[in-house]
Amino acid sequence: MSDTETNKTFTLTNDETGEKYTLPVLEGSEGPPVVDIRKLYAETGHFTFDPSFTATGSCKSRLTFIDGEKGILMHRGYSIEDLASKSSFMEVAYLLLYGDLPNKAQKDKFEHDITYHTMVHEQINFFYRGFRRDAHPMAIMCGVMGGLSAFYHDSLDIYDPEQREISAHRLIAKVATLAAMTHKYTLGQPFMYPRNDLSFAENFLYMTFAVPAEPYKVNPVLASAMDKIFILHADHEQNASTSTVRLAGSSQANPFACIAAGIASLWGPSHGGANQAVLEMLDEIGSKDNIPEYLERAKDKDDPFRLMGFGHRVYKNFDPRANVLKKACDEVLDDLGIDDPRLELAMELERIALEDPYFVDRKLFPNVDFYSGIILKAMGFPTSMFTVLFALARTVGWVSQWKEMIEEPALRIGRPRQLYTGPKSRPYVDLDDRK
Ligand code: SDX
Repeated sequence: MSDTETNKTFTLTNDETGEKYTLPVLEGSEGPPVVDIRKLYAETGHFTFDPSFTATGSCKSRLTFIDGEKGILMHRGYSIEDLASKSSFMEVAYLLLYGDLPNKAQKDKFEHDITYHTMVHEQINFFYRGFRRDAHPMAIMCGVMGGLSAFYHDSLDIYDPEQREISAHRLIAKVATLAAMTHKYTLGQPFMYPRNDLSFAENFLYMTFAVPAEPYKVNPVLASAMDKIFILHADHEQNASTSTVRLAGSSQANPFACIAAGIASLWGPSHGGANQAVLEMLDEIGSKDNIPEYLERAKDKDDPFRLMGFGHRVYKNFDPRANVLKKACDEVLDDLGIDDPRLELAMELERIALEDPYFVDRKLFPNVDFYSGIILKAMGFPTSMFTVLFALARTVGWVSQWKEMIEEPALRIGRPRQLYTGPKSRPYVDLDDRK
């Protein structure tokens, strides 16, 4: 019996024929049990139907557990609160990739390996040249990450553990360099090469904000906040972009191309694009006096306006990441001596919304995107770069989930079915006979 099999079953009855089907129940280490329907079609001739996967487990995974009712998020058993306050992004990357927090020697080697993969091939610079300077940074990231799949032919055998590992390290290291280059390109400033004497977060800030004309000293407050923001965005179970990476990877596609697919999915305003949309929403609301009007618009089904940064498919009480970010907002703005009226506006919006039955009844609470943009703005990032930062951090999760999937002995290509509602078979109509 495998580690998830139980002696429990579900019995399904076809009420039309009276036939009964026994379905096994599988249990994980945390979270709800699952009904194993892998043989359902063969035994019953029926598919299941769950278009946005609200009740469907797509895989087994040991990386991240979320309890939406209790507001729990943990990576390999460690709470996000502990990791955000006590660990580092590189440690969390190691934890997600290899299953445990690194000891000192492991941490030093991993940080060295990542550091020495931060440079990108000089040919990559030419990919940027094709974009307009005002292209959306996420459009550029989709393109240059896709372009990266044309390199590193020495590490594309995904079934060779060493090649799989070097691809993972290259992706985690280079996505930060590509993100910084994207920012520089949109500004019309020269690219800054990575520096091996800086930590991951320091190096990213250096590549993003330094210019060749003068020395740049990384502000430790910003470096610490950046590292914490990366930790909070690292992985999140089977969200839309992670599921995109897994499905792309299930065909044994090039890992760099799979991450490009994840970037594309994350860009949507319903997903990672929400952090940019939150800032734009706060700027549109403008002042506390306008909050009631916008809350009414958010409730109006005929109005496309939604309260961005609110709601979550899984979290139904609070998003633990939002709590950490809300606290970090105060700290970073205070440390930087910045008084951003958006923070007060956001907190007042949250307060009023959480007293409104529409939001309370639908269990709509601030999610990870509600406060992150305020910190990122204070750190000097343009709003259009916010989702790029999300993609930078989530590349650790995407790569770890991809690696876990490829290492599954029973890897098969993902291929969902459908409920067909189109026309029944009909004879072809020649052009002259069409109305
Ligand atoms: C991320 O999956 C993940 O883990 C994602 C993520 C990660 O780390 O990977 O956590 C990151 O994507 C966070 C979510 C960022 N998106 C936003 O902040 C955009 C605003 N939020 C909504 O679009 C929405 O809440 C979603 C997309 C997040 C969740 O959508 P669901 O689960 O499909 O919920 P739903 O659209 O079915 O909403 C249920 C009800 C509906 O009303 P009724 O039809 O029941 O009357 O709640 C309403 C919705 O209209 N609703 C909102 C709302 N979100 C849901 N109404 C106003 N404003 C909102 N933000």
